[in-house]
Amino acid sequence: MANILEKTNLTFEKLGAPSEAGFQALFDELLGVASGELEGVGSTEELETFRVRWVGRNNSVKSRVNENWLRQAPPEMKRWVGSGIKVYFAHIEEMLASAKEALEIIGLANGSDIDLSLPGVTRPIGTRHLISQTYEELYRIFNSIGFSIVEGAEIETPYYNFEALNIPEHHPARDNMDTFYLANAPGYLLRTHTSPMQVRTMEKQKPPVRIVVPGKVYRRDNPDATHSFMFHQLEGLAVDTDITFCDFKGTIEYFAQQFFGPQTRVRLRPSYFPFTEPSAEFDASCHVCGGSGCRTCKYSGWIELFGAGMVDPAVYGFVDYDPKRVSGFAFGLGVDRLAMLKYGIDDLQQFFRNDTRFLRQFP
Ligand code: PHE
Repeated sequence: MANILEKTNLTFEKLGAPSEAGFQALFDELLGVASGELEGVGSTEELETFRVRWVGRNNSVKSRVNENWLRQAPPEMKRWVGSGIKVYFAHIEEMLASAKEALEIIGLANGSDIDLSLPGVTRPIGTRHLISQTYEELYRIFNSIGFSIVEGAEIETPYYNFEALNIPEHHPARDNMDTFYLANAPGYLLRTHTSPMQVRTMEKQKPPVRIVVPGKVYRRDNPDATHSFMFHQLEGLAVDTDITFCDFKGTIEYFAQQFFGPQTRVRLRPSYFPFTEPSAEFDASCHVCGGSGCRTCKYSGWIELFGAGMVDPAVYGFVDYDPKRVSGFAFGLGVDRLAMLKYGIDDLQQFFRNDTRFLRQFP
């Protein structure tokens, strides 16, 4: 049996007078051979040889097919033999054109210092910063029990940052050593906590209040593995006519179990904040060892989470709430600290270095 290229020398009769489908098969076979040959082409010279051989003017495959298959076909078959030729050779021309383009690009690269084997330019897609992700998790948890989100300014007055929170003039937190006062704007400071938004919210809104306040806070700390001049808090405040210590504990417990897992237990330790009474530090059972003691919890089984308490009635006096009618609780979470605990990060500074090798670990 003659191969397909030899068959292009045969006339319609000698081909065995193929039907339409028979011709289709012949064309398919031709196309297969052409693309196979084209794959082996590695230079513009070889490409030119291919072109002349397949679609050139004289004695090319195309001219032979025209001459032998089309011209000699009976009139009623000419139409579809002709359109077959048109379609299939257009395809071959297209393959030729893109091979030419590819070779030109390689030609440009040859002799220059462009290395075509290098991977292309990729545009890396960033990830949400772990602090942002942690905030989102916190919003989800507190939104689910009816807290809404309120934001406030990072520049505050001593009144909102201290006075209205029942922190008197002589309190050590007000010292220049602890607080950034703005040299160019006397009477302003960088808030040391998000608690000023407790007061600002209650000034504007009558009870019930149920808010969380995210944001950056500033303290005059030297950077180390657990300190920074700036960190992130989430303030919480719930005030209504019937809020009890049980609501307080239940809310915190719900938070801890959502954040660290359903097996988490919480405990309260007495503490002191001028704007809560009683005040407490909340601990959670260690999420790493479950309470039996390990390095993360320093073998105590418990992890200190954050400060909180029942709103001190003195604070209501600053916002025109009636301390005999309302009660509530407040808490101030350190978001960086929570993220470090949950994700096992041992250096706070990692959050601020913007080293993508760190950031990428939290997609
Ligand atoms: N504002 C306190 C701090 O930054 C935390 C706190 C908030 C404590 C609310 C009690 C109630 O340390």
